[in-house]
Amino acid sequence: MTHPELIPGLAGIPAAESSISFINGLEGLLSYRGIRIEELSAQSHYEEVCWLLWNGELPTQAQLDQFKLRLRPHRELNADLKKFVRGLPQSGHPMEALQASMATLGMVSPGVDLKSADSRLDACERVLGAMGTLIASCERHRQGLDLVEPDPELSVAANFLYCLNGERPDEIKTRVLDCALVLHAEHTMNASTFACRVVASTETSPYTAVSAAVGSLFGPLHGGANERVLRQLESIGGKENVEAWVDKKMAAKEKIMGFGHRVYKTKDPRAHDLQKLAGQLFETHGSTPLYDTALELERIVTDRLGDRGIYPNVDFFSGIVYQKLGIPTDVFTPIFALSRTAGWLAHWMEQMEDNKLFRPGQIYTGRKDVHYVPMAQR
Ligand code: ACO
Repeated sequence: MTHPELIPGLAGIPAAESSISFINGLEGLLSYRGIRIEELSAQSHYEEVCWLLWNGELPTQAQLDQFKLRLRPHRELNADLKKFVRGLPQSGHPMEALQASMATLGMVSPGVDLKSADSRLDACERVLGAMGTLIASCERHRQGLDLVEPDPELSVAANFLYCLNGERPDEIKTRVLDCALVLHAEHTMNASTFACRVVASTETSPYTAVSAAVGSLFGPLHGGANERVLRQLESIGGKENVEAWVDKKMAAKEKIMGFGHRVYKTKDPRAHDLQKLAGQLFETHGSTPLYDTALELERIVTDRLGDRGIYPNVDFFSGIVYQKLGIPTDVFTPIFALSRTAGWLAHWMEQMEDNKLFRPGQIYTGRKDVHYVPMAQR
């Protein structure tokens, strides 16, 4: 019997038909429901983008207002969930806390009737509504601080910063975070979205599917790269050390965090926008020497590896932006999760509309017809 060819990492193999987002990796093009990411990051905001991703078109003012109103009550965590968050170990990573508390949100929310569109939407709104408060609450608990009650009047971005820091953010900080949320909201069939769809295909709730997606996003080859980029820039120790540092990394055949992408073979369009955002923040809140190091690193890595299609990805500038917003380094990946929740849920809904259980094959490489050997004869 001949086997189908194994494609490691399923690279380039379609896992679903989807109308949510589109990437052209050679041209550095990303669109959500057909609208280029550059237009959305310049003119839209996170809640509107969520609506777009979930519904396939831009909302009217009335639809958007209604959507925002429905999200408001879900920002607040119920008493059992707060008790759970306060009982989490203070060791470990915020992504582990988020994965656990997202599953727990499902335990304290009404059951989901998968046959009812209203019930499915209600569950998605509960997940999206609670995400920012959950991340901020887990982080405050980890730092030994009291939890901050969400402010329903604030946007997703502003409420997150408020619940994290206990003070209302200024307009520029809110705008910058909101824009970062827009840029990370969706990105076709990446590892975490695939994880979400695989879990969704067993006909489980969005709480469970998003919790699985959070676990998948955590790794350094995916969302976990953003915090490593910042630590990498700090460890280089200054612009003047970049060239020697890159040479050492390349000689050791080690990967440079924040560069390379399975699909983009040019600079990630989101990296362009995040770089612009960094510039806007620096104008009002002062620059950082890490930015000079980053620019030099981009120049040298692009020079050495650009011909192999290795350029800055979305994670390259996001850490510099988040650090300037006063966000602790290991909360960077949870912010990615906050944003990507919009895309994960769009995929959960799409999967539910025409579900087929994921059950890929494998190429067996083990032994056959082996017999059990009793312990005394081994
Ligand atoms: N630095 C140095 N070399 C690299 C890098 C990098 N960042 N990325 C890829 N390469 C090299 C590999 O060493 C490999 O070289 P080889 O053929 O000589 O062995 C070749 O390019 C192919 O690398 P793969 O990892 O097999 O390619 P893949 O398509 O799987 O790469 C990935 C995608 C995993 C993102 C990779 O570029 C990487 O590990 N980057 C660093 C981590 C990172 O920034 N992740 C965030 C990605 S964006 C996101 O998930 C949101």
